[in-house]
Amino acid sequence: MTGSEITIAVTGARGLLGSEVVEAGRARGHTVIAWGRAELDVTNAEVCRSRIRSAAPDWVVHCAAYTAVDRAESEPDRAMRVNGEGTRNVARACAERGSRLLYVSSDYVFDGRAATPYTPSSAVGPRSSYGRSKLAGEVEAAALTDGRALIVRTGWLYGQHGPNFVDTMVRLASEGRAIRVVDDQVGRPTWAFNVASALIDLVERNEEGVHHVADSGTATWFDFASGIFRIRGLTPTLEGVSTEEWGAPAPRPAYSVLSLSSTEKVLGRSMQAWPEALNSYLSLQA
Ligand SMILES: NC(=O)c1ccc[n+]([C@@H]2O[C@H](COP(=O)([O-])OP(=O)(O)OC[C@H]3O[C@@H](n4cnc5c(N)ncnc54)[C@H](OP(=O)(O)O)[C@@H]3O)[C@@H](O)[C@H]2O)c1
Repeated sequence: MTGSEITIAVTGARGLLGSEVVEAGRARGHTVIAWGRAELDVTNAEVCRSRIRSAAPDWVVHCAAYTAVDRAESEPDRAMRVNGEGTRNVARACAERGSRLLYVSSDYVFDGRAATPYTPSSAVGPRSSYGRSKLAGEVEAAALTDGRALIVRTGWLYGQHGPNFVDTMVRLASEGRAIRVVDDQVGRPTWAFNVASALIDLVERNEEGVHHVADSGTATWFDFASGIFRIRGLTPTLEGVSTEEWGAPAPRPAYSVLSLSSTEKVLGRSMQAWPEALNSYLSLQA
């Protein structure tokens, strides 16, 4: 499909990633229909069906999700209703209409106990309620599309369209606050702008199956925070703490590094290194 115009509908289109997908699709000359929660609540099967039937998009990029990782531990049913059943509603409507489905998933489907990057075929084993609900969404997406859904896992996102770690660090440092950051979880800090661009690339290539998309390189949250302060010229008091000391309600994967090689092969390019992407993001914010 590269080069020709595609009609792409985006769910969760006002969220951190959804907003970037809308912009990336339009920047490539595609027709993009942006559905926020008010236009399409994914928990309403009939609304999903009628919206997708009448818009008749070539693709639905499904970014809507329950994303409150810690809160999901105390309201697992709500997380499952949005991420599992909501995805079933979107996938079923896509199948009925003949639209392709891209489901955005998460590094939280893995248990985080690995020592080498997770490939798209690595065994899943979510440890949190949020992770289980995202995995349920993957299962629904694949089952209702006869395995043709494009499932893209990502993680550690920041961007201009939603609250995120980078903006929080800059704000806390600017307020002169001492900052404690977890230093024993490893992942790939990733600019949502780069993910959105890769998602459109995959859609244009008419891909299916599971892909991993993130910026390249790895960091702990402490390394990530240090990079932010270095670029911004901020010098707050920064202390590394363990996951246990931090004590968040939801378990976090200790190792959240997604292997990018198969997707980079399909894209024919490497993902941007996280410090470079961070630099670009921060220069746009300056
Ligand atoms: N951020 C990350 O680091 C990260 C990491 C891995 C994977 N992901 C995945 O990336 C995707 C996008 O996440 P994000 O970071 O952009 O999160 P986000 O900013 O929270 O966006 C999610 C959007 O979904 C909407 N939504 C929630 N419930 C809905 C419902 N029932 N019907 C329709 N829309 C609903 C939210 O609207 P309201 O604001 O009205 O609630 C919000 O605009 C999700 O699938 C998420 O699991 C994100």
